[in-house]
Amino acid sequence: MKGIILSGGHGTRLHPLTKVTSKQLLPIYDRPMIMYPLQTLLRAGIKDILVIIAPDHAGDYLKLLGSGKEFGAKITYEIQDKPEGLAQAFIIGADFIDRDSVCMVLGDNIFEDDFSGNIRNFKSGGHIFAKEVKDPERFGVVKFNGEMQVEKIVEKPKEFLSNYAVTGLYVYDNRVVSAAKEIKPSWRNELEITDINNWYLEKGELKVDIVKGEWIDAGTFESLFQAGELARRKSGENMPAVG
Ligand code: G1P
Repeated sequence: MKGIILSGGHGTRLHPLTKVTSKQLLPIYDRPMIMYPLQTLLRAGIKDILVIIAPDHAGDYLKLLGSGKEFGAKITYEIQDKPEGLAQAFIIGADFIDRDSVCMVLGDNIFEDDFSGNIRNFKSGGHIFAKEVKDPERFGVVKFNGEMQVEKIVEKPKEFLSNYAVTGLYVYDNRVVSAAKEIKPSWRNELEITDINNWYLEKGELKVDIVKGEWIDAGTFESLFQAGELARRKSGENMPAVG
């Protein structure tokens, strides 16, 4: 299983903070944000990791994470020139993924859970993780039927669908590379991860589990602040120090 951390975008929602650095390098309590998703992959046993970054501040990522040796991992880098969607990561990372399965985590997602069991047991298809939230309109949203089977997934629904947000951790088999090449850009001109999830859902091969512990997408001022509080509360506990 290969790992990808997607750390692209301009972080415009966090201006002026992100005028001087990348969103995923902002401090969350005692370390830059990206070190949390890195820890999520390492804890899941994933050691071969591609970090996809925007061109600005790329050198700072190299300075922070280097070869990955310090973390017992091998880290390589690719540039996403423009924020053209999360699913583009599988096209940019096609050579890196090669013939393997892949677990992608977003550089601004902070998880408390340990996913090592899910990764060990993964065989094929798509496997994503949902969490009940108060503000589902910010996310990809999963609608379950009465038996907790997935009915559909909609990206940032305008009308209420459910409170289950799709979190930024995605596990796919190797077909994700061809799926990413097949899907078309959305109205906002991005290759949507939601379309990848629906690609697997249509084939009856999408598994959705519920995230048990806390989860934060640190992409707004409010959630950035909450992420800092969570990390502070958990420091030395469930979220082990990286490096
Ligand atoms: C992205 C995805 C969305 C997902 C979210 C998780 O949204 O498009 O489906 O729920 O990440 O953090 P973004 O943060 O890019 O708006």
